[in-house]
Amino acid sequence: VTNRTFTMLKPDAVEKGHIGAILEKITASGFRIVAMKLTQMTKTDAEEFYAIHNERPFFGELVEYMTRGPIVAAVLEKDNAVEDFRTLIGATNPADAAEGTIRNMFADSISENAIHGSDSDENAAIESAFHFAGRDMF
Ligand code: CMP
Repeated sequence: VTNRTFTMLKPDAVEKGHIGAILEKITASGFRIVAMKLTQMTKTDAEEFYAIHNERPFFGELVEYMTRGPIVAAVLEKDNAVEDFRTLIGATNPADAAEGTIRNMFADSISENAIHGSDSDENAAIESAFHFAGRDMF
């Protein structure tokens, strides 16, 4: 069934000038862009978005990283969107990411891993609503 996922091109990917190349790979893989913007998360935004990780030792570093510059936030639509997008981006640690995946091609480390993809339909809806109003999803 056709459904939606949420992604962010993280600050490292934007800093390195990879927005165009990554979006090309996403659309060439059959995802339709439903919503998209360049935005910067505040510390409060990042702490809320990543609340599930707030007990992890890397939480402070994660918030610092995700707020240091602009990101591209987007909602994507495709059959089996959540699972297929996780396959397209590859493993969290780019060292483990399969050849040809976005993290394999564009990420440098487990902490600065270029791109986010929702891990469930439920989180895709929560994360999309965090960044976009209903009227800004098409
Ligand atoms: P993601 O899986 O999209 O969401 C959680 C993020 O935390 C992850 O991407 C990385 O950016 C970061 N992260 C995960 N594991 C580590 C780690 N071991 N050290 C530092 N950052 C991490």
